[in-house]
Formats: sequence, structure tokens, C-alpha cells
Amino acid sequence: MQKFVVTGGRRLRGEIKLQGSKNSALPIMAAAILPEGQCLIKNCPELTDVYSAARILNSLGCKCSFSDNQVFTDSALISSTEISEELMREMRSSIVFMGAVLGRMKECTVSIPGGCELGPRPIDMHISSLRKMGIDIRETGGRIICRTRSERPKGAKINLNFPSVGATENIILCAVLADGETVINNAAREPEISDLCGFLRKCGADIKGDGESRIIINGKEKLHGCEYSVMPDRIAAATYLSMTAAAGGEIILKNACVAETEPFLSVIEQTGCTVSTGERKIYLRSGARLHAVRDRIRTMPYPGFPTDAQAVLMSALSVADGTSVFEENIFDCRYRHTQALAKMGADIQVMGKIAVIKGVNRLHGANAEATDLRGGASMIAAALAAEGTSEISRIYHIDRGYEKIEEAVRLLGGDIKRVQ
Ligand code: EPU
Repeated sequence: MQKFVVTGGRRLRGEIKLQGSKNSALPIMAAAILPEGQCLIKNCPELTDVYSAARILNSLGCKCSFSDNQVFTDSALISSTEISEELMREMRSSIVFMGAVLGRMKECTVSIPGGCELGPRPIDMHISSLRKMGIDIRETGGRIICRTRSERPKGAKINLNFPSVGATENIILCAVLADGETVINNAAREPEISDLCGFLRKCGADIKGDGESRIIINGKEKLHGCEYSVMPDRIAAATYLSMTAAAGGEIILKNACVAETEPFLSVIEQTGCTVSTGERKIYLRSGARLHAVRDRIRTMPYPGFPTDAQAVLMSALSVADGTSVFEENIFDCRYRHTQALAKMGADIQVMGKIAVIKGVNRLHGANAEATDLRGGASMIAAALAAEGTSEISRIYHIDRGYEKIEEAVRLLGGDIKRVQ
């Protein structure tokens, strides 16, 4: 199995171009099922999760090919409505294919999705929302069998009891070809939802209000193909900024989505790093020692502080002066990386949803296993800040979401190697 060998102690310095967003690219690839024709999706990151999405599309008869960060799809001859358990298990995002296949084909068979182990990840809101749209859903032998009661799914008024990203995406994907109007109250406001809606609008869909809590969709009879470019990855931005804050140095991120990264930037600025932004650019300089962040960092749905940036920022705060406190409000088990950071010398106490980080003078190299995607990235950040060499294994978790992370880190002057 491959691993990363990281030798810390070097300051990072340089410019990198950010990858396209994983969490946009995946639902957009699912959405490519909806138009009866061809789509060209640009700025798509090369990731194992994107390859999994391509395998799902091909298994449904929607032709999908990938080259040079462009995905080409042709859904004219889509022939199947069933996604195998094996493909469903490859990633969490496989679940958004449910809404898309239902929208286009009026029926589908899926199973419980895989993905990072961050605690229980139920799909009750996805199921209850689709039921409201006139879909019969029954579970048998681990399979979830969905059939539209009438000719098309029906528009409905749906009040989510939590602004779930995946449930909002599934409802939108089913609603764009449904009969009538769908209103989603308490919808997720994440920028990746707006990116999905941007793609669907280019295909001819009628969607209003994305980016706000109430989204209104008027179903169309047909959609057409389009060309679309995926937004930059705001979590990859947070990751490279946190690495630079932790190791010290200076970074310019090009092709960045500045406004969408703001909830993270406003917190990392409190560590004493200099942050400035320009047209699609983010600059960060980490000079002297970092300070702890005084206010509790609460992970919240957008525009709150993103749960996906909690682990990487924690690595930087492990070497800050003073004590910082995180409160993880989105997932039950999102502190699994803390044991590896502790092995590197970090002083972290976890109590339920709270993690207390007392900054230490320095970290030291250690061997660690990536526990999940963002947790794995946090181990690289800590290893870059540490004295000595660290080996990080189970890096398939990291490859699910970061495009050639070792090349980006090396471009910044970091010492990282991928070894067999
Ligand atoms: N939830 C339910 N029932 C549901 C759906 C969600 O209880 O039917 C709960 C979840 O268990 C969780 C919370 O609601 O506790 C939030 O889940 P949400 O549905 O919003 O998240 P998701 O769609 O599963 C996406 C991202 C995650 C990101 C979260 C929150 C993708 C592919 N995944 O997950 O990204 O952390 O939104 O912003 O878009 C990552 O990239 O590392 C990652 C985990």
C-alpha cells in the first residue's frame, strides 16, 4: 500500500493553482444524467471519487470519459436504473445519483452509500423528501428500491429539519424534471449547491433561491446538454493555507473562490497570519509563531466555519501560542485524526463534540494512518510543521479528495514523497 513520507521543518513558499471542487464535481456528474444529450464538465479534479462517479455513469449506460480535467458525458442512451452495491460503497456521493436517476428514469435501485467514517451518516431526510415527491421507496435485502407513483415525480413543499447538503442536492436533482413546483425550506446554502444549480440552469432547469434557505424549482419536461466549469475547491484552499500557517512561509493560491472561502479565512487570520485576497487569489504569510484562536471555533453549515476544514486548521493550532477550542457540530466522529496529531506531540483533549488544543513548541515526526480524507490531510500539515520524518499510510483516503497533493506540496518546497 502506498504511503507518504514527509520530512518537516521547511517553510513553504510559492504559488499553486487550486483544483476544482470535489463536492461540486460529484453532484454535477450525477446531474449529467438528466439532460438527454452531451455535457462537457471542465475543471474537474482528478480524484478517485471522480473516477468512481464515472464508473457509476458508465454502469447506467451514460457514457463518461475523462481527460485533462474534463469530463465528457452522453446520457442519450442511458439504459439501466440500478447501481450495484459495490459502486454505491465506493463513496458517500453515490447517494446523489438516486435523485438524478429518478428524475430522468422515474425509478432506481441503490443501496446505503460508503464514504468517510465520520459517525452515523443516515439518509432519512433524502428518503422522506423523495417520498413527498410521489416516490414509493422500500428497502429489501440492503437494496433501496424507488418507483415513481405516477408518470413523473411530483413537485412538493419540503421542510428539511437540518440543512443537509446531500438531501438538498437529491431533491433538486429529482425536482428539475418533476411535475410542478418544489419548494425546499431550510435548504443547505453551501456554494457547491449553487454550483450544481448553475450547471442545471445551463441545461435549461428553472431553479431560484440557491445560496439561500428557500430554493424553488419548477420542473421542466426536458433538459439539454451544456458545457460547464466546476468551481474551485474551497476546502483544498483551506488545506494548503493551513499547511503554510503550520509550517511557516508564504503562499499564493490561484484560481481560488475568495468569497466562499471567507468563513475559513476570517478564522485563520486570528492566528496572526497575514491574509489578503484579490481577483481569484488568496495570499497568506505565516511569519512568527501563530496565536491560538480566542473564540470557540464552531463548525456549522455554510456560511459557518466548515467541518471539512476543522482537522487541517487543528494541525496549525497545535503549534500556536495558547489554547484553542473546537466544537464539531456536523458529524459525531470527526476527531479521529487527533490521535495521530498527539503521536506527533500535539496536546489535544477531546470530550464529545469539544476538542481543546494547547499549542506546543514543536511537533516531531511519527508514523500515522490516515483515518479519513480531511483527517489524513491534517496529518500531512502536522508532519510538514514537525521536526523529523513522518510516514503516513492509508493515503487512499487522501487521494479521494486531493488532486496530486504531493506535487502541490513539493511545488511549495515541502519535502514529501509517495512511496509504495
Ligand atoms: N444527516 C442526517 N440525515 C440525512 C442526511 C444528513 O441525519 O438524511 C446528517 C448527517 O449524518 C450529518 C449532517 O446531517 O451529521 C450533515 O450531513 P450532510 O447531508 O449535510 O452532509 P453530506 O451531504 O453527507 C457533504 C460533503 C461533506 C461535508 C458535508 C457538510 C459531499 C460529497 N460531502 O456531506 O464533505 O462535510 O456535506 O458540509 O459533498 C468531505 O469532503 O470530506 C466531506 C465529508
